[in-house]
Amino acid sequence: MIRRSTESAPTESPRSDSDLLPAVPLLALDRQYDVLREAIREAINRVCDSGRFVLGPDVAELEAELATALDVPHVISCASGSDALLLALMALDVGAGDEVIVPSYTFFATASAVTRLGAVPIFADIDPATYLVDPRDIERKISPKTKAIVPVHLFGRTADMDAIKPIADRAGLPIVEDAAQSILSTWHGQCSGRLGDVGCFSFYPTKNLGGAGDGGFLTTTRDDIAKALRLLRVHGMEPRYYHEVIGINSRLDSIQAAVLRVKLPHLDAWTTARQVNAARYREIFGEYDLADRVAVPGDESRGRHVWNQFVIRVLDDSRDQLRAHLAKRGVGTEIYYPVPLHLQKCFLHLGWAKGDLPETERAAEQTLALPIFPELESAEQRTVVARIAEFYNAAKLSRLQEEAPAAALPPPHFLRRAVGKADDVRC
Ligand SMILES: Cc1ncc(COP(=O)(O)O)c(C=O)c1O
Repeated sequence: MIRRSTESAPTESPRSDSDLLPAVPLLALDRQYDVLREAIREAINRVCDSGRFVLGPDVAELEAELATALDVPHVISCASGSDALLLALMALDVGAGDEVIVPSYTFFATASAVTRLGAVPIFADIDPATYLVDPRDIERKISPKTKAIVPVHLFGRTADMDAIKPIADRAGLPIVEDAAQSILSTWHGQCSGRLGDVGCFSFYPTKNLGGAGDGGFLTTTRDDIAKALRLLRVHGMEPRYYHEVIGINSRLDSIQAAVLRVKLPHLDAWTTARQVNAARYREIFGEYDLADRVAVPGDESRGRHVWNQFVIRVLDDSRDQLRAHLAKRGVGTEIYYPVPLHLQKCFLHLGWAKGDLPETERAAEQTLALPIFPELESAEQRTVVARIAEFYNAAKLSRLQEEAPAAALPPPHFLRRAVGKADDVRC
């Protein structure tokens, strides 16, 4: 759960300038809503007036607008990112007895889509520098039963498609991109979602393009897959009440589409703001003697990193204490993800054990996501890093206070209202 800044701020009376630094939320959707309130309400009213609540004109328009934004011929919306993964694997005919290679360091849905179809997820380790699936481990894990490969563009950074694509091509395997966290990320100029056979995206509110509830979509350059997906998301029904295949009910509702259409024109600017925030974090971290304590994520030179998350690595075993310190000081953080999928209780029957994926397990123990949302202010970023430096007693704290006195900060929006936040920040 996201911590409300008012709840987690220190309660004792301020003793020093450091105590005056403001709380910083992990995510503040109310800041985005403040700017778009009228347009969003108007869009919702329009749908209510029309009485078209499922699929309908707004959904078709949104799909067309996304197709243009991502430069991909087919966009098929659905009810969630989790369903997008399920539908993608269904379209590729994944079923009982098949294996699908997925990273273990990802949100649960990447692997549960596989098991829901009776297939077996085969977990691959990650590259410790990027947290993205290690292509060499994918290659090692291909077997005669492998039916597909699912790289995850985690935290907004595209997986190493230069390496993964040739491996998949040599083995004759389709690639399903889990792009839930990476809308508008690119690889050599091409958007994620058009780098493999199918792309899966999420509109969950914490995503870079988040709806007012659940939602998702798929992308593909393949006409056959697009046709299958359009059928599978409506119970395999065509025409009405005639079913040639067994699909599921996974349609985007019109209110979501209408809200997302208000937001989509801002996505590029929001993404740039995230990139600016990431660069600024790197600069501020550089002002402190923290290099042997914390590893800061680097940018991607082969494409656009869209920074859904800014995830640092704590180099010793103090991650949880650091997180507790930050929470006490009102700085929101999250751990993505504390238990790797291969060690989750529900997958114990698959036979994986601790030590099987060492880099994944190390990342789960050491990583911590910091606030990176587009509306985050530079003074707030300075506060976040100052609080980390405070925990480690790192040098230069006094210089920070000179540069960013709390009194000079603009009024913190997040203290004004306690509503409008994604308070279930989970994936
Ligand atoms: C990597 C990844 N895959 C899949 C999903 C599932 O998306 P949704 O929550 O829309 O079902 C998420 C998060 O939500 C995710 O982060």
